Amino acid sequence: MTSRVDGPLKVSGRAKYGADHGFPDMVHGYVVVSTVGHGEVVAMDTTVAKSAPGVVGVYSPFDPLKLRTATSMLFGQTWVPLQDTEVAYYGQPIGLVVAETFEQARDAAALVKVTYQLRPSATSLRDNLDLAEDAPPTREGTPSVVVELAPGVESIQDALTASQVVIEGTYSTAAQNHAAMEPHSAVAVWESGKLTVYCGTQSAGMQAAELASGLDVDESSVRVLSPFVGGAFGSKTRVSVEAFLAAAAAKVLNRPVKIVLTREQVFTATANRPETLQKIALGAAADGTLIALRHDSWSSTPRDRSYVEPTSHTMTPKAYAIPNVAISQKMVPLNITPTSIMRAPGEAPGSFALESAIDELAVALRMDPIELRLRNNSTAPAGSDLLWSSKHLEECYRIGARRFGWANRSPEGHEDGDWVVGMGTATAMYPAMRFPATVLISLRADETAVVSVGGADPGTGLRTVMSLVGAESLNIPADRITPRLGDSALTPGGLSGGSTGTASVASAIMIAAAQVIDDLLAVASSPGAPFAGKEVSYTDGRVHADGQVMSFGELLRQVGRESITATGSSAPGEELTKHSFSCFGAQFVEVRVHKWTCETRVSRMLGVFDAGRIINEKTARSQIMGGMIWGVSAALHERLDIEPDGRPANGDLAGYLVPVNADIPDVDVHFVQYADTLHNPSGAKGLGEIGVVGMAAAVANAVYNATGIRVRHIPITIEDLL
Ligand code: MOS
Repeated sequence: MTSRVDGPLKVSGRAKYGADHGFPDMVHGYVVVSTVGHGEVVAMDTTVAKSAPGVVGVYSPFDPLKLRTATSMLFGQTWVPLQDTEVAYYGQPIGLVVAETFEQARDAAALVKVTYQLRPSATSLRDNLDLAEDAPPTREGTPSVVVELAPGVESIQDALTASQVVIEGTYSTAAQNHAAMEPHSAVAVWESGKLTVYCGTQSAGMQAAELASGLDVDESSVRVLSPFVGGAFGSKTRVSVEAFLAAAAAKVLNRPVKIVLTREQVFTATANRPETLQKIALGAAADGTLIALRHDSWSSTPRDRSYVEPTSHTMTPKAYAIPNVAISQKMVPLNITPTSIMRAPGEAPGSFALESAIDELAVALRMDPIELRLRNNSTAPAGSDLLWSSKHLEECYRIGARRFGWANRSPEGHEDGDWVVGMGTATAMYPAMRFPATVLISLRADETAVVSVGGADPGTGLRTVMSLVGAESLNIPADRITPRLGDSALTPGGLSGGSTGTASVASAIMIAAAQVIDDLLAVASSPGAPFAGKEVSYTDGRVHADGQVMSFGELLRQVGRESITATGSSAPGEELTKHSFSCFGAQFVEVRVHKWTCETRVSRMLGVFDAGRIINEKTARSQIMGGMIWGVSAALHERLDIEPDGRPANGDLAGYLVPVNADIPDVDVHFVQYADTLHNPSGAKGLGEIGVVGMAAAVANAVYNATGIRVRHIPITIEDLL
């Protein structure tokens, strides 16, 4: 149990985030955003703004900064602002004012007069299903429609008709907003033709490459520094407008430029989780054996169709052994703020529908929902013969049920004074993945070791993991390891996204450590060195040879070297042809619903997870707790409401509901620990996303258990239970 190594820096205000950087001569940018939901900018009068105090530059589609559509490693293309007059959503960046101070820039921005040609907005998913189009293939290449049928079965409908028990339901999930504590911001500095950007990102290397493509400059001339990130959750995987604008404005003004989005701008100008609508039909035999599953889903997408939430294509074809599965995914382009990945993209809303449906089937079968799930436990994804590399879901449920007191649950809940009490459960899954990573390790003459990688720690605890895995691989105490990350000039280390950070970086650390030890031994036994010509070995930070021992620092000092450095790389490979990889979990929730006010309180929650080896239980638990709380938030609080004219009705933290401490009980988290070395040498499978998966369904299932009311949408509100 190690406390976050960067914790003291963070709680004492010494950790420097992007916007904490300042430079002499720096100017401040304020982004002008559209105030209509759909249309065209026909004129922008910037005369008054240009002569306002302190203003040094005003940019618009008619007087743009030079940018071009950027290439993103994860998403293909990234939109860049001010290059055309189209307004596709309310709050879209359409201009930039730069001034000597932030306040001057903000004041002048209010003086920019925009004339629009209005077009009607389409903002509601439910009202615009006629605009639906087939979604493009997922990143894994899965097409929008997938049908797997048992031999001899003609159609999914036939398989459903042949099932003894069938349930059908339409589920929906609200749009959610990214609102990481650190608002999106960037400080851009050009010096001798080279750009340095200070910002918060999930991958300094990816951010630098994407910025370079947007600015049309060589990748080698862009450096991104992002050692501290105040939360990201997917919203900082692609370059957002402020970084493009700061970099382009700094170039033409030849002065450092800082842009910090306001909280309201973060709500419209960065990214959201789209709204979804999902239809499920589930058929089973009377003994609970699943026969057929159909899951059709619709997600809203912005008009540039840049991201589609793959709801039906995530857990649905993987969680259960079902001979007949049909899934489809459609997108509905709307005048909404950009959508993007958000913690467990796909799984979070998809699991709400799937795991609610499984609960409904359990009710119809009069079967315990855990028994139903385990009876149909999958050994591989549908249509694949690659078995899960490791799966301990049964154990998660066994431990969870005991720890939570599941045996005391009655099928009708129970009463406690003015409250009705219910328990619900759901399965969580998230794929175990990793990216190629290269780690550099330096053993130093002062007896410390630097472990560095270009990746990011957006609060996940990666820096602490680097200390611990570095210490373990070099056999020295963790306080002698200096972890360094968040700099595109360091070796490429994938990204902190998709729950891949630990598995990617830890595997590379192990290889780099073995290499640097080999190199150290070669130096130790080379001619003229203290162990010249001897058979040398390494343990606990020391070089040994027949009775002679010397620490690596001492050895380096003796040979007159400051340090010895090696790199190690690790990437997904052959294992992908041998197994399927996933993390698993069992979520448990107890709710109390007030008999007269119908308010729902979560009174207990427990998650038991199989996420491979857990390298640091303390930060791992924090990650999972954050996800589980977010799941409660999705179930009972969060909903981004877009007015018919495209304006967000609650686009700030005053109007957008999130749980506070009083809404959240003690959160119990438990890990079953089975290192998955079939997946990667470190045995860690990743746990950034899985904590949120299944939580909303577990809450809804508990609400049903307590009240007998099945709510098929989230968030669940008082009105639903009247
Ligand atoms: Mo995660 S949605 O990749 O931060």
